[in-house]
Amino acid sequence: MHRAAHQLFDRPLVFEDALALAVIGLEAEAELRRGQDWHGHAAPGLRAFIVARSRLTEDLLAEAAGQGTRQYVVLGAGLDTYGYRQSRGRPPLSIFEVDHPATQAWKRARLKEANLAIPANVFHAPVDFEREPLDAGLRSANFDFDRPAFVAWLGVTPYLSRDAVMATLGFVASRLAKGSEIVFDYAELVDVSDPSRRARFDALSARVARAGEPFRTFFDPATLERDVRALGFSDMHDWDASALNARYFAGRGDGLRIPGLGHCLHARV
Ligand SMILES: C[S@@+](CC[C@H](N)C(=O)[O-])C[C@H]1O[C@@H](n2cnc3c(N)ncnc32)[C@H](O)[C@@H]1O
Repeated sequence: MHRAAHQLFDRPLVFEDALALAVIGLEAEAELRRGQDWHGHAAPGLRAFIVARSRLTEDLLAEAAGQGTRQYVVLGAGLDTYGYRQSRGRPPLSIFEVDHPATQAWKRARLKEANLAIPANVFHAPVDFEREPLDAGLRSANFDFDRPAFVAWLGVTPYLSRDAVMATLGFVASRLAKGSEIVFDYAELVDVSDPSRRARFDALSARVARAGEPFRTFFDPATLERDVRALGFSDMHDWDASALNARYFAGRGDGLRIPGLGHCLHARV
């Protein structure tokens, strides 16, 4: 919904997604067009973060593909549309969408309704990160563990236990081929002494909890970086809101920017 709202309300686009509206469907598009909340004061900060993390991921993916990576793993893919709008002329990637079985079934229904075929190089692997090994899910989708992969894991870590987050990162570090990369986002532990940050955070937490998926896990950036390095990752780069704003939102006339708390971490195996 946020990526679709971005296509409707923001110029210039930070993240071009020609299928974002199609995949949410006409009813949801109508909701976006009427809903004050989507383009009014409440949502733009979160929307900015969501489009920036997708843009950063696809920028880094393009660099990895330029260096020869041919496998793209989208963990917790949700309604991500990359696999359905691959650009012609680029070397084809094998794309593995791994998601909770319930979400994946819902996405397949959404794709069907939007008349979007699943291309032959897009593979769906249903996995519940809290209960099932990623290994088996990827294997069943014919993922090649001997070749490097670029892994995106966006909008998922806040909803998992810390143990499940670290288990998945440990799996990527220990099982994927050398040269593999991951980009994931996380929410920074809130500084409760800052009332305006605290209020924004409480409002967002209440909203996602009402939607049935409460936030569970937050990280202190320095501790996370140390723990991720200990798993075997190297070349880490953490983007906080100010780094993402400088990279993607500088000089805009509409004031769209990320207000705080969200980070993206990029690391190599
Ligand atoms: C906020 S959506 C993010 C979707 C997408 N990556 C994006 O950037 O828009 C959260 C995703 O996490 C997935 N997820 C949450 N808990 C999960 C679990 N235990 N196992 C697998 N996927 C999970 C949901 O199915 C959903 O696709």
